[in-house]
Amino acid sequence: MKEASSNVDLKKIAAIKAADFVADGMRVGIGTGSTVAFFVEELANRIRDGLKVSALATSYQSRILCQAHGIPLMDTMFQSRLDIAVDGADEIDPQLNAIKGGGGAQTVEKIIASMADKFILIADESKLVDRLCMKFPLPVEVLPDGLSLAKERISALGGRPNLRMALRKDGPVITENGNFILDISFESAPLDLRDLDTKLNLIPGLVETGLFLGLAKKAVIGSADQVKILEARE
Ligand code: 5RP
Repeated sequence: MKEASSNVDLKKIAAIKAADFVADGMRVGIGTGSTVAFFVEELANRIRDGLKVSALATSYQSRILCQAHGIPLMDTMFQSRLDIAVDGADEIDPQLNAIKGGGGAQTVEKIIASMADKFILIADESKLVDRLCMKFPLPVEVLPDGLSLAKERISALGGRPNLRMALRKDGPVITENGNFILDISFESAPLDLRDLDTKLNLIPGLVETGLFLGLAKKAVIGSADQVKILEARE
């Protein structure tokens, strides 16, 4: 479903505000998605005004955007530390745990978020939820050979796995790592997200989940009245 244009405006104000957290000389992780696209534009404006940064991109989308906007990119393979990473989210709970992977990029997004001293989520207010996994299905990346085993094990954990299908290609979505995505829905919100994440990650062939638990220190949220900055509780 196409989102309301007001959501787009709220994404934009959040993304612009998040650029305030990027200081001169920083190494910056760049997430994926429509909200991040506004962040990249704003970063490029600030680079034109003299800001110096180097970046790591989480996907082809963000690599192409950074290249188009003249943001200098490093090679992720040879980096393990960043000052800051900024990324969108599909759901954010009050502890700033998040679901990511609406764009299928959660594996590299999680690698890059984990490198950063500060990981900041940017979103419009529609992404805020009381509990994760009720509205937005949880994406997990799975090796094609592990598809049936993963589906069986996920069902045994109480989830309903759905193979994500491509829109303008016949068959399933193939991630940038050559894998499938299973979108998992739940009848009721999982009580222990950490336990769920551990159990999912133990399934052979399951590469990574879209649960980002305890990673974000801040969330910059575009709301109808203002941009809100939420802090993770220590
Ligand atoms: C991609 C993601 C995105 O950050 C998430 O889907 C949010 O996207 P958008 O900013 O377009 O709403 O996790 O894998």
